[in-house]
Amino acid sequence: MKDKDRIEFLKKELNFHNHAYYVLDAPKISDFEFDNLFSELKSLENKNPHLITIDSPTQRVGGEVLDNFKTVKHNYPMLSLGNTYSAEDLYNFDLRLSKLTNQDFEYVCELKYDGVSISLIYENGELIQAVTRGDGIQGDDVTANVRMIKSIPLKLVGNYPDKFEIRGEIFLPHAGLKAMNKSRIKRGLEPYANTRNTASGSLKLLDSSEVAKRPLDCYLYYLLGEKLPSNSHFENLQLARTWGLKVPLEIEKYDKIANVLDFIKKWDLKRLDLPYDIDGIVIKVDNINLQNEMGFTSKFPRWAISYKYKSEQVSTRLNKIVYQIGRTGAITPVADLEPVKLAGTIVKRASLHNSDQISRLDIREGDVVYVEKGGEIIPKVVAVDFQKRDLFSQPVIFIKSCPSCGSSLIRNKGDAKHYCNNSDNCIPQIRGKFEHFIARKAMNIDGLGSETIELFINEGLIREVSDLYNLNKNDLLPLDRMAEKSVDKLLLAIEVSKSVSFERLLFALGIRYVGESVAKVLVKHFKNIESIIEADFDSLLTVDEIGSKIAESVVKWFSIKRNLELVKTLKLSGLQFNSTYKQNYLSSKLAGMRIIISGNFNRYSRVQIKKMIEEHGGRNVASISKKTTFVLAGNDMGPSKKKRAEDLGIPIITEEEFIAKLK
Ligand code: IVH
Repeated sequence: MKDKDRIEFLKKELNFHNHAYYVLDAPKISDFEFDNLFSELKSLENKNPHLITIDSPTQRVGGEVLDNFKTVKHNYPMLSLGNTYSAEDLYNFDLRLSKLTNQDFEYVCELKYDGVSISLIYENGELIQAVTRGDGIQGDDVTANVRMIKSIPLKLVGNYPDKFEIRGEIFLPHAGLKAMNKSRIKRGLEPYANTRNTASGSLKLLDSSEVAKRPLDCYLYYLLGEKLPSNSHFENLQLARTWGLKVPLEIEKYDKIANVLDFIKKWDLKRLDLPYDIDGIVIKVDNINLQNEMGFTSKFPRWAISYKYKSEQVSTRLNKIVYQIGRTGAITPVADLEPVKLAGTIVKRASLHNSDQISRLDIREGDVVYVEKGGEIIPKVVAVDFQKRDLFSQPVIFIKSCPSCGSSLIRNKGDAKHYCNNSDNCIPQIRGKFEHFIARKAMNIDGLGSETIELFINEGLIREVSDLYNLNKNDLLPLDRMAEKSVDKLLLAIEVSKSVSFERLLFALGIRYVGESVAKVLVKHFKNIESIIEADFDSLLTVDEIGSKIAESVVKWFSIKRNLELVKTLKLSGLQFNSTYKQNYLSSKLAGMRIIISGNFNRYSRVQIKKMIEEHGGRNVASISKKTTFVLAGNDMGPSKKKRAEDLGIPIITEEEFIAKLK
């Protein structure tokens, strides 16, 4: 058989077994046999690189490293669902719908998977795009990452429509979280707290080979498109299953709301035995024409609703209330708890939000309180067990001055939070500003943890973020724990950060309400810092997606003299305050290095390798000299080059070693 035919055969065979294993949960061959087929395909592809196709099972190891995700507009808005918590709510839902139509209709009941929603677009049977929900109108293109999830077919089988979209939930099964945490603990890392946040964090990774290592899974529950095979939502999902898509089996059709309630009751107990998390049940009208007739409110579809199970609660003693100070000066009261196990983790602290929340729930130090885990990692206190209250307990008196710097707290009208306004001298605020500035999504300065920042502040080396760019070796070397190597590394990382794109720099400045996506919008519209400084409230409002809250905050920030000074100083240090500068650095791992590329490579093209070198701060140079850091040698490195490198004592490294350096 020709290599080409054997490759085709192996791809089909492996895709079939992948489906049996990951979608049907019913493997037909042993792991050993699978691995053999896989290695055979891999070596045939190595021999014939031109025959590698994007849907080959060997391509699910990743390697594409992105700087950012592309924003794409959804073909159909990606809305969430209204929530209900009681039988009464559901009877009302049923009553509302029957008033909207004279027709009889059926309900479809599904589990509500607790993960991250995703929209997959298939064209001619191939997965062409995967987009996160984002704000419902547009989301992030995470195709490269989603391709790494084994239960999502890259190629469909059977009689599928030419073009359709299917939505579902990417999640991490319990066993997946456990396995990941086991390995994290071994490596001395903090374990991940819950499946949902870990799944969502995984999708946001910029290196798809990291995603490939995570045991993510995906259930699909909503088919959309111009030419759907059936007018029944239920039927469509059953058909989608025959195309190889992972549609859950736990789905039922009923004609009465009473049966829907039975389904809910049944799963309230059974859900605890599922190998993944669900947080409720979704109820949908089956008839798609009728769905369209019923339509949407401004936020939700009228024809579907979710029933949420109450989250797990525990009670424990609240020992003390402590106060945290954020980078904006906002004060958050936090409950210091008697440690207690909740949803698989030990909880020691819980958020109390603000002083109103404390009075609303009448929370006091020493109380026994109920703690619940919502969507966030940090659990919250939801109620007090008043029967266990100590007779002599006293209501909380919210602090009047900052626990760190002692200045009086203020609370603005309409704001639920108290603030410490001493932003110039209050250490946690200064530290918070630095932490935000150097974060990966902002200036991406490695090697500067919270403790080092505090050390530098206390040593009087930094106050404003612009001071980072004046740090030098002589200042740093005498400090505790600052070895020459780490000082060099840090200074290089700071140097490299000067080339970070304007949108990330604008985000890094920490202007209230200017998050990553708002920063992008502002940069796209205004192009440079001068135009943003000049923009008044009204011209900001004309920009798509900028509302009055953001506009007001931007105008205010740029009206403060000190901030304008900061911008000026940063600009003098060479930071990029306009959007024409293109180079985006991913890290400083190769900063200052001069690298020779020689020969051809297995995984990446020479052009890709060159790009990777530049993205990590290195320089690709043409000829070997004493100054060369290393030679990256491909399959057929020229003998004269090799000799010269050896003569000069310059290390020669392989493609694998190079990739490992960037990890
Ligand atoms: S249908 C227009 N079905 O819950 C209907 N959503 O709170 C769109 N979810 O954004 C959603 N399981 O991320 C639907 N079986 C299911 C679901 C489900 C989980 C998530 C989804 C959605 C959110 C709504």
